[in-house]
Parts: sequence; structure tokens; C-alpha cells
Amino acid sequence: MKVRAALFCALFSCSWLAYAGGNELPLIPLPLKVDQHEGQLVVGAGTTIRVVSSDTAALRVAHAFSDMLARIGGPSLPVVVGAATMERTAKGVGEIVIRLDSNTTVKQAEGYVLDVSPGEARIVARDESGLYYGAVTLWQLLTANQNGKTFTAHAVHIEDWPQFAWRGLMIDSARHMQSVAEIESILDQMALHKLNTLHWHLTDDQGWRIEIKRYPELTRIGAWRAPPDAGKNGELTRYGGFYSQDEIKQVVAYAAARHITIVPELDMPGHAQAAVASYPQFGVTGERPAVSADWGINPYLYNVDDNTFQFLENVLDEVMTLFPSRYIHLGGDEAIKDQWNASPAVQAKMRAVGVKNADQLQSWFMGRLGQYLHDHGRHLIGWDEILDGGAPGDAAVMSWRGTSGIEKAIHAGHDVVVAPDPYLYLDYVQSDRDDETAGRLPVRSLQAVYDFRVAPTGLSPQQAQLILGAQANVWTEHMPSDAHLQHAIFPRLDAVSEIVWTPVGEQNWQSFLARLSTQLDRYRREDVHYADSAFAVKIDVNRQQALASGKARVTLSNQIHSGTIRYTMDGTAPDSNATVYKAPFDVTLPTTVRAVTMTNAGQALAEARERVIDDESLRKVAGNELSACPTPNVDEMRAQPTPDATSFTPVYTINNFDNCRLSRALPLDGAKSIAVDLARLPRNVALAQDAHLIVRRKAATPYGEMELRIDRCSGPALTVVPLPDSATSPSTFALQAKLPATRGMHAVCILTTTSPHDPYYGVGRLQLHTADTAPAKEHP
Ligand code: ACM
Repeated sequence: MKVRAALFCALFSCSWLAYAGGNELPLIPLPLKVDQHEGQLVVGAGTTIRVVSSDTAALRVAHAFSDMLARIGGPSLPVVVGAATMERTAKGVGEIVIRLDSNTTVKQAEGYVLDVSPGEARIVARDESGLYYGAVTLWQLLTANQNGKTFTAHAVHIEDWPQFAWRGLMIDSARHMQSVAEIESILDQMALHKLNTLHWHLTDDQGWRIEIKRYPELTRIGAWRAPPDAGKNGELTRYGGFYSQDEIKQVVAYAAARHITIVPELDMPGHAQAAVASYPQFGVTGERPAVSADWGINPYLYNVDDNTFQFLENVLDEVMTLFPSRYIHLGGDEAIKDQWNASPAVQAKMRAVGVKNADQLQSWFMGRLGQYLHDHGRHLIGWDEILDGGAPGDAAVMSWRGTSGIEKAIHAGHDVVVAPDPYLYLDYVQSDRDDETAGRLPVRSLQAVYDFRVAPTGLSPQQAQLILGAQANVWTEHMPSDAHLQHAIFPRLDAVSEIVWTPVGEQNWQSFLARLSTQLDRYRREDVHYADSAFAVKIDVNRQQALASGKARVTLSNQIHSGTIRYTMDGTAPDSNATVYKAPFDVTLPTTVRAVTMTNAGQALAEARERVIDDESLRKVAGNELSACPTPNVDEMRAQPTPDATSFTPVYTINNFDNCRLSRALPLDGAKSIAVDLARLPRNVALAQDAHLIVRRKAATPYGEMELRIDRCSGPALTVVPLPDSATSPSTFALQAKLPATRGMHAVCILTTTSPHDPYYGVGRLQLHTADTAPAKEHP
């Protein structure tokens, strides 16, 4: 019997429930052609991996496969060389055969044919990458069915190849740095998702992370920064580090063994503050700034003297020795030109080289270094600003400012890598849940990433060929730990892997979700800290009705609107026997609801979430549930208490332009006072030309005030409470205010009087009290 599950479900619109436990193969990305057959292959102790003797590529893949399986708890399968013997065949011992064959039916680069039958799996490809990806597919099939050291795969015939040649992930090691072991574990996961390019962002304003032997100050000075509140509130006194050249060689080799190319990025002419802090003579003003502790857009650029180009070329010589990649990324993004425009020397250079403005000077700058790369057999790739003054002819463009750069690059005849903000920026939070950790807003959900289409429609075949592929970008301002990094990447990387490998017409969200449940199970076995935000249950109640009647109407949901939600109210953890949620239900106060999303086979897809429903909790709102106040400029983030704090909670939602938050309508009947938990946070985001958009509210007392309003944020304040002295008070504190007798549901607006130099004030929690004065409480 042959089953084409994907096609069947495309025609008959299967729901996830129909998929789960159905015929969907546990593979991400979805292969191009799949035929399922009867029977199963069992792999365990006694299974061998066989390659023919002359096949060194196959031999490498055989060892890589054995290693992959061992890493997830499998046996170390022996690799044997030579044709199968009659004796072995007669004994019926299962084999995995890996063989290069230039005549195989799949002709595309990186493609493969995989046949699994009872007793044998056979991987055949024209190139080593193809063999490797065939091995990854077999690994995915086997690891979906693991019992100790024994694995089972369904019989199947697969023919598969990728849609795009550049399937990437960018890791920013400048804002927060990862250990070599962490980079290697990300490389492992990339390989298991058939991604082949790691773009490694190694230098920025906040740190220079690559050892350059000729210029030791780059890492002696440039690799270290003082956090804004260094030494206070548990913050480090300095943050930083760098990768030695030996470590980089190790990582490059580790990646190469997994068919991943590392493209290093040295950002220029902007995002250069750490370099200028190390060697001020290569900056514009000649002054030595500190390595920046401020995220955002800082003003420091390289100057355009010949000595600076000599420095950059010397640096590139070492970089090219370390990284064999075809492309070297020279940044080019967000170089605000204030320093160049203010510098007589730079203006003189502009006249000397015959350019009219600073954008053209940047183009000349990138062109000069692009030529240097070209002369050394490499190619420049840069962020899409390199198009602004005209990019060097052989440069590839990394389109990030939305998707407009894609067509602009194509029309100018450049190869392009699609990496758009916000679509493939994994520094945006995955959900608006109160328990979601730090990151930028708005939400970039798993489904939003999955729904992104790499190639714009309407391109001619020649134009489409200029799209090398796509990558997701992981900017790490809000990812000070491995757990934060992994939370941001997984499982959205699964969506990325499918949109760059599988043709658009074959992509199917429901099918993807069904396959993802197996992948989450692998993550648990591999100890990968994936985000369960998409599957976590949201427990909503109707506050007003509950407070008035003592009965709450409870609504359960999750972000994906799919799966089976099960819940309990008896204090036990919800398991596969718990009540299935079908519709909103009523509970009598007080109670605690615990809920979890499961596949219909009973596998939990998220940690269970709980909500206490009682009088106090119904009068409480978490700060992260508040919205930005209505204001023309909103740029929000969930910030850690200090920039390098490694804990997941608490986090505070901040609008960079306005320290003002607005609640949804709250039941004010009977509320006599309100307690507001506040956290004072460093204002460490450089807003460049946008700094004038910060809303200023004049303070009347030395440290400013917290103001409360009802219903809207404009108009006179209902209550004004002075803020405490930042030098002597703790960074988290509670303020309390009396409320006038008010009936019904009303929004509460909380703002602080601010100047652009004041700290941010994050709201941790609002608690309405029915007594005149609330009991004083420490912030949790
Ligand atoms: C970028 O996000 N600045 C490329």
C-alpha cells in the first residue's frame, strides 16, 4: 500500500487531530517526494553501516550518522567497508548502506534518495551533502520511534532536494556571547534541520569577539564592556569575552563536518564602537569611547583614511585565513552619518574621491573592501544598506529592512539572501503570554515564521534565480544565557527549515504541527530548551462577573488554536486522563485551574499552566499584560531587570518612547486602593535620530513621579506618587495610592514623569485592594 499523506490532507483539509497519529512522517523539513510502504526497519545493536571501499565521502557520512544516533542514546553502529557478504545477508542482519552515485535519479545538488525496507536502509546521492541529508532524514525517521537503544522506521521511498542553496541562521555573538560548546550545539541542530549556513555576527558596538593577532587591543579592550549598572543589583562588573583563533578553527571544522559554511561578519563602517574603543585612531573623532553598553544605534564609525583601510585589510587577511567561505559579511547596516558629516577630514576625503554625500561615501567604502575581498577570491555580502549608494557588482545583498530590499537587489542584478525584519527576526518574542521571557515586541509567532514566503511572487525565472535563499537572525540583546538563545530559536527554527527547503506548494501548517510534536520530543531527549509558548494554555476568566457572582467563566485557548486541551481543578497535574476542554465553563471561587495542550495521542506539548481564581487574583494584573499607551511612537521590548541578568523572569515591558502603560478594563467596584510594583531599569537603548521622539513629562519632585489615570492616559492625573531616590532605594519597590469610589470596568493608566536621561520604570504588577491601604508587599 502506498500512502501520500501530505497530498491526501491537502485535498481533504485534514485537521491536526486527524494528522496526529496518522500517516504523517515525522520529518522536518518535509521531503519533496514520499511514498510509504508496508513494513519496518529495526536498527539497534547488530546493525552495521556499509559503504563501498572507494567511497570516502560515504565513509565520512557513515561515521557522522553513527555519531548522530549515538548522541541521542543509540548504539555506536560499526561502519564496515566493502560489498555485503552472502553470510551477512543470510543472517538477515539489518544494514544501512550509504553510497555516492552520479547516476542516481535525483540530480539536484544536496539531494538524495532514501529507501527504507525491512532489513535495510539505503541512501544514495550524487554529492556528499546529499548523502548527509539522506542520513539526517533516516535519523529523523528512526528517532521518532526510539526504545532505549533500538529504533524503528517505517518502510519508505523518499526523493528529496532543497529549494534554496542558502539556508541559514545568524547568531549575534557581540551583544551576548555564547560558549564554543553552545555554538557547536546550535550547529548540531542546524545540521539536523538541513540548514547549511551559519552567519556569525562577530563584531559590534558592544563587543569585538574574534582574536586578531596583529591587533591585540581589539580583544584586550574591545571584547569587554561595563554594564550600565555595573556591580549594582546583581549586575556583573564587566561583561565580555572573545573566540581565540584556535577556537574559531575548531568551530569552522565542526561546522564543515556538518555541511555548514560559516560566514563571518565584521560590521562596518558603523556598529564599530568596540573597534574604535580599541584603536581610536581608526575612528572619526580620535577620542576613545567606552565599548558600548547601549543597544540600538550608536554613532561611532570608522574613518576613511588609508591607514584605516590598511587596518581593515589586515584584519580581513586573518579572517579569510580562518574562514574558507565564499562570502565575507562586511555589515553596512545602520551607519548613521553624523560623525562623517561633522568631520572636516571625512568631507575632504569625499571631495578627493569625488562622492557627493555620505551614502555615496559608504558605497565607496564598501566597494573598496569588496574589491579587496574579490582580489582574494572572496565576495562581499552586506546588509541591504549597501544598495543605497550602489553596491559593488559582485556583492550579494542581505535584505533585512522588510522585504523591499529583495526586489531592489534583484533589479540591480545582485544575488540576495532574504533575512527580513520582522518576519525572520527571532529576537521578537514568541507570544504575548505573561510568562513569556525577554525580547522585542511585537510577537513573532511560530505560525508567522512558518507563513513567511521566501520568494516574492511575480519574479521571472531569471530573477528568482538571484534569490540564494533565506536565513533567520538571532540578535542577542535580550539573550544573555544559552537557555534564552535556545528559547528564541526553537521551535521557530523548524519553521525556518521548512520554508527554505520545502517548495511553497508543499508547505502545510497543520501537517507541520503534527510533525513538530515528534520534534519537540526529540528536543526533550537532546536537552534543548525550546519555547513551548505556541502550545501553552491561556486561562482567561471574566473578572467582573466572577467578582460579582462568585462564579467565574473560564476560557482555555492556545496560540495555535489546535491540539487537545485538558484541564483539572482538583489540584492534580493534568495528564491524558484529565477533562478535555470543549467550551467555556463556570467555576465557583476560589479554585485553581491547571491546563495543558496535548496531541490526541496524549503527548503533552507544553508545560501545564495554572491560574488561581480567587478574589485577590481577579483584582490583579501582571505588568506584561499592560499595553503601550496610545502614542504615535511605539517600540516595545520585554527587558530583564539588568541587561545581563540570566534569569527568565521577571521581565518588564517597556516602550522606548514613552514610559506609560495602560491596562484593559478592570473591575473597580469596591476597590479603595491600588498597589503598583515598579522596577527601575537602566535606559540602555541608543535611539539615534529617533531620540527626540521620547515623550518628556516634567517632574515636580526630585526623582519624578508615578501618575495614575482612569480610562485614558491624557487629562489630569487622578493620583501622583513621588518616586524614590534611585541612589538609595532598591531597584524594585511598590507604590500605593488611594482610589476614589468608582463603579464598573475601567482601564488604569500608569505613567512616570520622565526625561530622556531618566531610567525606565517597568510595571511588575497592579493589585487592586478593597481596603483603604494595601498591605505593604515586597516585589516578588
Ligand atoms: C540589522 O538588523 N541591523 C541588520
